[in-house]
Amino acid sequence: MTTSAQKAVWSALDEISRVPEDVQADFCFPDRTDGFLPKGGEHAKYTDNVDLCDRFCYWHHHRALHAGHPFIHTPAYQNIVNSEAELSCLAQSIVTSLWDFFRNEEQVTIRDSSYIQLCMYERKYQEDDRTYLQDRHEDGHLITLIKPTRDGLVIFLNDREIPVHLADDEVIVITGSLLTLLSDGQIPTMYHAVRNPKMELARKSLVYFAIPDLQRSYTTLLGKNPINVAAFADESHRAFGNTPLI
Ligand SMILES: [Fe+2]
Repeated sequence: MTTSAQKAVWSALDEISRVPEDVQADFCFPDRTDGFLPKGGEHAKYTDNVDLCDRFCYWHHHRALHAGHPFIHTPAYQNIVNSEAELSCLAQSIVTSLWDFFRNEEQVTIRDSSYIQLCMYERKYQEDDRTYLQDRHEDGHLITLIKPTRDGLVIFLNDREIPVHLADDEVIVITGSLLTLLSDGQIPTMYHAVRNPKMELARKSLVYFAIPDLQRSYTTLLGKNPINVAAFADESHRAFGNTPLI
C-alpha cells in the first residue's frame, strides 16, 4: 500500500472503536447493508454459522444518503472515506491489469458497485467450540483486498490451510468466484477463513470487495460467452445474509 493508503486504513481501524454507541445507532441501515451492523447479520456463505464480529459497511454510491448524520463528522468516517478512495484505485488497477492480460478491450469499472467492510471481532464474541471466527468461504466477487490488524486469516490451497502474515504496509488480494467465472475458469477461487485464537484476542480487519458495474452486460474473457454477472453477484452477496445488490 502507498503511505497515504496505509495512513487511511490504519486510522480507520483505530478510530472505528472510538465511535460512541449512540452515534453508531444513528448510522445503522441494514435494509441496504450499510453503516454499523451488529453481529448476527452475516454468516459464512450458504451456512448458518454466524461471523463472530460486528461490522461496518461503506458504499461509495450511498455516500449522499449519509448527509445529516453525526457520524460523518468523526475521524472514523473520514478515514473510511479515504480508505475507500485509496483501495478502490488499487483494486481498479488490478482489475484493469487482469482485463489487459486477457487482451480484453472492454474495460470494467468497479467503484460504484463495490464497498468497504470493517469487521470487529470482539473478545467477548469468541466461542470455545468454534474453530473459526468466520468459517471457510469465498467472497463471490471479482477480488477482495484484506487488511487485518493481527494474524488469524487463513487461505486454503488444495484444501491445505495456510496462515496469512502481512507486514504493516501490505494488503492481501484474494480472488472470488465471479472472477473464476469471467475468466472461463482460468483464475481459481480463493477460499479463506478467520481462525478462532487460542487466547482471548480482539481483532479487526478492513476489507474492500470489488464488484463490477452491474448496469452493463458481460461476456467471459476468453470464450466470449454471455454471462449474467448481475444475477451471479447478487445471489452470492445474499448468500451471506446481505440485502440484494440489484
Ligand atoms: Fe471473505
